[in-house]
Amino acid sequence: MSDQTPETTNASWGGRFSEATDAFVARYTASVTFDQRMYRQDIQGSIAHAKMLAKVGVLTDAERDDILRGLEEVRIEIERGTFNWSVELEDVHMNIEAALTQKIGMTGKKLHTGRSRNDQVATDIRLYLRDEIDTISAELTRLQDGLATLAEQEADTIMPGFTHLQTAQPVTFGHHLLAWNEMLERDYQRLQDCRKRINQLPLGAAALAGTTYPIDRVYTAELLGFEAPTENSLDSVSDRDFAIEFTSAASLIMMHMSRFSEELVLWASAQFQFVDLPDRFCTGSSIMPQKKNPDVPELVRGKTGRVYGHMISLLTLMKSQPLAYNKDNQEDKEPLFDTVDTLRDSLRAFADMVPHLEANKASMYEAAKRGFSTATDLADYVVRKGIPFRDAHEIVGKAVAYGIETRKDLSEMTLEELQQFSDQITDDVFDVLTLEGSVAARDHIGGTAPNQVRAAAGRVKAKLAAR
Ligand code: ARG
Repeated sequence: MSDQTPETTNASWGGRFSEATDAFVARYTASVTFDQRMYRQDIQGSIAHAKMLAKVGVLTDAERDDILRGLEEVRIEIERGTFNWSVELEDVHMNIEAALTQKIGMTGKKLHTGRSRNDQVATDIRLYLRDEIDTISAELTRLQDGLATLAEQEADTIMPGFTHLQTAQPVTFGHHLLAWNEMLERDYQRLQDCRKRINQLPLGAAALAGTTYPIDRVYTAELLGFEAPTENSLDSVSDRDFAIEFTSAASLIMMHMSRFSEELVLWASAQFQFVDLPDRFCTGSSIMPQKKNPDVPELVRGKTGRVYGHMISLLTLMKSQPLAYNKDNQEDKEPLFDTVDTLRDSLRAFADMVPHLEANKASMYEAAKRGFSTATDLADYVVRKGIPFRDAHEIVGKAVAYGIETRKDLSEMTLEELQQFSDQITDDVFDVLTLEGSVAARDHIGGTAPNQVRAAAGRVKAKLAAR
């Protein structure tokens, strides 16, 4: 980065200035150190703009071809790492334009006809976010697919279901995995919905009011794969609500991933022993030789906060801005970029890890047996024998108290013991007191019965395959 010169004169807008920008101010106001990340989208936007200008006769075909050739050379240089990014040129837009002019001469200076950096940057961010949403959606799909596959395999695996983190009723592990999938499915839908509002072309708004050239915005939109040009030039260069929307969708995903992580951390502990995480997703301790720490889920849980923070940053960035463009908006990029990186990498780590989660079926089963998880089943059984539910609740409550006192699960009591609480209880009670009987009985759409879990996993798979 060549920012050594004490003072700089910017050739792009220096005409009305009588003194050069202070070197520190140049650095303070520059964005090139971070917005160079959008070089591909900036070039893509410029190519479409040049083609449009030629189509409407503002550029000749020869000028257009020179510009396209020059931009391609710039792209190659950037990708090879030989491009010289300069802080004096402020941002990615002016760096690329200056390099283009250096390569093709005068014609390079014509590229900016009928456009401003204000609509240019709005276009770049939309293109960038659209690309990233597609990458993130693919990782999300991969994770969902892993969950559905594991759910199919674990459709019969019994574990305790919890409320208040107290054993509540037995569920199948496959059912639990599909609960996570449902959250991610809504997250996926939210991203797609957000993508629709991103996919509008701001280019043509120019600085704020539009331009006097006979531009064809529908054509530019078509070239860039945007659904349509935006409707209002002032709004186009000013609002970043689409970016806020993206960070809020990202916050929800991270919140879900954090809950998911919290459970994995608990479950991998010696106290639960429900799952084993593959060694390659864990680390050891430098002092305690026995340790295998669930770093990946812990970090995902930890990184959730920074994504929430970025959403608040963007909301605050926007809240007091008068129309139209303000330099404040340059501050949208770092929070956005970090949101993209954090979200994409967290999803990637989970998509890699989930297919290799190992369920410890014996511990899960043992845990489900503790804590009177079939108490509701006994109450339902007594109701089926004609006793009102409230009375049944009371009867089972007493049986549980007896179980606590005698250290026996309901399924471990004899028929005589159970009959102390209701004479309606007969031999067939043991069918409902088993964990298998309990889960199999919840046999409806959305229920935990193994056959329902298999069917639900099948529906998820079909849906993912159709994406
Ligand atoms: N680097 C600027 C940004 O990120 C580009 C737009 C600058 N426009 C201007 N009139 N100074 O927002």
